[in-house]
Amino acid sequence: MRKEDPAGWSDDYSVGIPEIDEQHKTLFELVNKIHDAISAHQGSAASREVMDQLVEYTRVHFALEQNLMHTGNFPGYKEHCVLHTNLIDEVVSMQEKINSGKVAISFELLHFLRNWLSKHILVEDKQYARYFNTHGHDQFSNWARRSDEAMKKQRKKWWKFW
Ligand SMILES: [Fe+2]
Ligand SMILES: [Fe+2]
Repeated sequence: MRKEDPAGWSDDYSVGIPEIDEQHKTLFELVNKIHDAISAHQGSAASREVMDQLVEYTRVHFALEQNLMHTGNFPGYKEHCVLHTNLIDEVVSMQEKINSGKVAISFELLHFLRNWLSKHILVEDKQYARYFNTHGHDQFSNWARRSDEAMKKQRKKWWKFW
């Protein structure tokens, strides 16, 4: 558990599943790191690096979320996967525009990323949250253990960034 919640995070974002909340907080932290890089005029290279981390971590997070929804027989599983594909497409296309110099890393980009992240959690992730909170967490315990192991492997890679 981290000492402080990242800026932008509040309990309103909680889906009631600690592992998922931690991952969402990490996504907010990465968006905050882009904010810090812009504010400190660290240049586009630093921001691009964080943007790459954000895309990679988003893929990891979506894969685990999809695993949870599938394992837990969430009825909106397929629709949620389509939303994830669209969200990844959006952020990858933003990343490509940045890398090709068509779009500058700016506060507008941050605004886009914050909206992209918070809207998906508050509107769409909350749907599986409601489902798991009304259907119990029994089927979820095995998944949680496996996801924890998977995240530990990922953290080795991520650790160097923090
Ligand atoms: Fe999520
Ligand atoms: Fe999601």
